[in-house]
Amino acid sequence: MGRVILLTSVSACAIALFCSLDSLAPLRTKLGELLPTTFKDVAQKAISAMNRMFLSERLFTKEELSKYTGEDGGQVYLAIIGNVYDVSRGRRHYGPGGGYSFFSGRDGSRAFVSGEFNEKGLTDDVTGLSDSDILALEDWKNFYERCGLAAESCVLTKS
Ligand code: HEM
Repeated sequence: MGRVILLTSVSACAIALFCSLDSLAPLRTKLGELLPTTFKDVAQKAISAMNRMFLSERLFTKEELSKYTGEDGGQVYLAIIGNVYDVSRGRRHYGPGGGYSFFSGRDGSRAFVSGEFNEKGLTDDVTGLSDSDILALEDWKNFYERCGLAAESCVLTKS
């Protein structure tokens, strides 16, 4: 029994390392090309579930996220390329009446590079963006990432 637990733990660690190490990205891509889509979907779901369990990550629906606009003094969250950040400490930018409040309670990734701050522009659809736009989005993500962890425990130090 002990051996089974040990083997399972070692396998789980090996899989976690394989999935997270940047240096193994080309290998993951290669493997990804060989696997059928259904298998990849299942694997992706399993990884997300593990992240939520072990890293306390929280998955937001659009509707849930839309509640975090800082109305009534509540928390202010925004999302960029699918990652949610607590920007409550930047309330004067992102909270009600702030110059960038349109980013709050949603994933408006595309507008970060298009500057189109209207309902049409504030979308998470990044289809057709150029390589440099994608890099710019990554820069914005890093800007929000700087404060550390995703979602709940993340606060912007710059405000
Ligand atoms: C695609 C275009 C733009 C995007 C996506 C963008 C986004 C942002 C964001 C997210 C912040 C808040 C940063 C933080 O959390 O500290 C910010 C701050 C600021 N932005 Fe922009 N911005 C854009 C264009 C501009 C332009 C064209 C100007 C000036 C003409 C400008 C002037 C400022 C200033 C002055 C601040 C700081 C405000 C303050 O500290 O009170 N931005 N911008």
